[in-house]
Amino acid sequence: MAFTRMDEGRVEQWVEIGRQVAARQTRMPQVIKSMLLRLGEQMDGFAIDQLQHGLQTATRAYRAGAAEELIVAALCHDIGKVISVENHPAIAAEILKPYVSRDTYEIVRTHQDFQGRHYYALMGKDPNARRQYENEAWYDLACRFTDEWDQTSFDPAYETLPLDFFEPMIDRVFTKGFIPVQEMEAKL
Ligand SMILES: [Fe+2]
Repeated sequence: MAFTRMDEGRVEQWVEIGRQVAARQTRMPQVIKSMLLRLGEQMDGFAIDQLQHGLQTATRAYRAGAAEELIVAALCHDIGKVISVENHPAIAAEILKPYVSRDTYEIVRTHQDFQGRHYYALMGKDPNARRQYENEAWYDLACRFTDEWDQTSFDPAYETLPLDFFEPMIDRVFTKGFIPVQEMEAKL
């Protein structure tokens, strides 16, 4: 029987909660895929929808020989737009955080300021906003991510790989970081 208020919870109830959370968390790849499909309903005034944009960004990363987690990050970098365009880099980065390296997390978290090089001036914002990160170890890779893969990926004529192609990568990356039940039990 589950508790009705937290201050009455017993250790064995928390162990059971940990077990059920861990079991559900293994379905993360399906959650990600359904969010990506939702992006397919968002055009937001661009030449291609947001799913095709993510697929195209990931395709360019793949063809450039990027690491698998960075390809998946490229695929998911705008996934936060399902919730909020304004906060989307932070949302996407926090979704990815348990599953990717610190560098990949930072690249997604800051990608809008790097993208700003290509459009901020039109909006009266600083196109060099990325400079605040120039001493970071991941700076050069973030430049490549945005300049070569992300900002170029609104092209309906580009040969973009389909979601099916990336599914095994999504499955691998989004099951990697989850905490096994035994470890969770050890923490309680
Ligand atoms: Fe993007």
